[in-house]
Amino acid sequence: MKTKKADDQRDSQVESRATGQVSTIGIASCHRSGDSTASFAQGLFDGIACSYDTWAQVLTFFQYLRWRRFLVSRMVPRPRNLVLDVCTGTAGVALEIARHHNGQIVGLDICHSMLEAGRGAVGKTSLDGRIQLIQGRAEQLPFPDETFDTVVFTYLLRYVQEPNATIQELSRVLKPGGELLSLEFCIPESSWIRALWLMYNRVVMPIMTLPVSLGWHRVGRFLGQSIWDFCQRCPVDRIAAIWRENGIPLVETRRLFQGVAIVMWGTKRR
Ligand SMILES: C[S@@+](CC[C@H](N)C(=O)[O-])C[C@H]1O[C@@H](n2cnc3c(N)ncnc32)[C@H](O)[C@@H]1O
Repeated sequence: MKTKKADDQRDSQVESRATGQVSTIGIASCHRSGDSTASFAQGLFDGIACSYDTWAQVLTFFQYLRWRRFLVSRMVPRPRNLVLDVCTGTAGVALEIARHHNGQIVGLDICHSMLEAGRGAVGKTSLDGRIQLIQGRAEQLPFPDETFDTVVFTYLLRYVQEPNATIQELSRVLKPGGELLSLEFCIPESSWIRALWLMYNRVVMPIMTLPVSLGWHRVGRFLGQSIWDFCQRCPVDRIAAIWRENGIPLVETRRLFQGVAIVMWGTKRR
């Protein structure tokens, strides 16, 4: 009982940190107050790394891989491509890119356990010579300016304090004429689908994840609120505007699965 109580206390601390608050600077900056989101993300993903790929598929009604494939299908083919996959996690996106495009891929993630799972996944393929996985933060990329032909990021912006500054950093390492692509969760636009989405996220997912593991239950309770809060303070139009402010003038978007996910892509000004 004591252990469960301690777990519950830790969970509620995690959740209250995750929820964050709308910045006093307002929607225009998308800034999020609160303490370290980096250590929060590390803790959250540490607890689910081993079973990440399986449960990500189940909890998204087997859409997760489809969304990833659509994202990679938007990548412009290049004869010699140097790609940065930010938030590579278990390297699913990096592997998908390696299967469909030429070149080398660097996968970067803040969480050691996710990267270890990724190394295992990459090691099982014949693509390991083309994928390098490194630990690092999206907010401070360890690369010189204009290094990559393509930069991809997935499910990142809810975990950073300042989406504006992070997108600026991603654009910094992208070559002029290079492509930036993202995949994020979103809120459905249709009101009745949104009602179903809310019920799934607020009621079904917390219950469904309860018998899986403590780590997944934490995700099950955190995810819906996190998506909701982020989309309120930083709607899609605002994100597209941030891309434009950071040198990516034409931003294309596609909502997937009734708007539950969104893919964005654009080319950096030469
Ligand atoms: C939802 S997972 C996505 C993993 C993978 N891209 C996929 O599609 O399966 C999000 C990942 O972002 C990583 N992450 C969160 N904040 C980060 C940051 N500030 N810098 C780098 N990685 C971060 C987490 O560790 C986690 O592995």
